[in-house]
Amino acid sequence: MTLLDPLHDTFHDTLLDGIAESGYVIVDKVLSTNDVTALAAEALQLSQDGALKPAAIGRAASAQLDPALRGDAIRWLDETHASPAQQVYFRVMHGIREACNRALYLNLVELETHFAVYPPGARYTKHLDQFHRSGVRKLSSILYLNREWQADYGGQLRIYLEGEQPEPYLDVDPIGGRLVLFDANRFYHEVLPATRPRVSLTGWFRTRADHPLT
Ligand code: OGA
Ligand code: MN
Repeated sequence: MTLLDPLHDTFHDTLLDGIAESGYVIVDKVLSTNDVTALAAEALQLSQDGALKPAAIGRAASAQLDPALRGDAIRWLDETHASPAQQVYFRVMHGIREACNRALYLNLVELETHFAVYPPGARYTKHLDQFHRSGVRKLSSILYLNREWQADYGGQLRIYLEGEQPEPYLDVDPIGGRLVLFDANRFYHEVLPATRPRVSLTGWFRTRADHPLT
């Protein structure tokens, strides 16, 4: 397999074609094995240090903790204090952001990202990555950090392809170095439980706040 340079036009063309044609795209080997390993180690260290917080559903006053619905623990990244491996991640993501703005006029101004660790058995039930359909989150992005992941561990991301309907869907294994991008306003999705800890960097490219889509 030819490795695409994730800062290069050819890589961006692959992403842009997928997003424009299907509303989602999946690409592998977006980061080197070393960077994937370093980022996974950071996430697991944060987890050991008790520095991850149980993830809530909803926002602010309406945020709720319910591990049966959402069982991961997260920590938001601070780009101004990024580790070397996080800096590589941010460079790749901002390259994608700029390519989307140039070619698709998405006007993405920001990226918000957190580490997510799902302990064995944890899930995130079917949802849409929007608060009250505000449209501020335009593109969802998940970069998986699981080295040597096997399909029979479970933990797939299930993307529903036709609104809230239970079928058809696409199952994506959370393989280290794999990046999934999808239209945050369009695709319901869920995380299926796994038999191993499942680690990722999940992010959203946002448009300007208070500027709903339609
Ligand atoms: C999320 C989410 C999917 C995944 O954090 O909102 O849907 O595969 N994550 O981790
Ligand atoms: Mn989601």
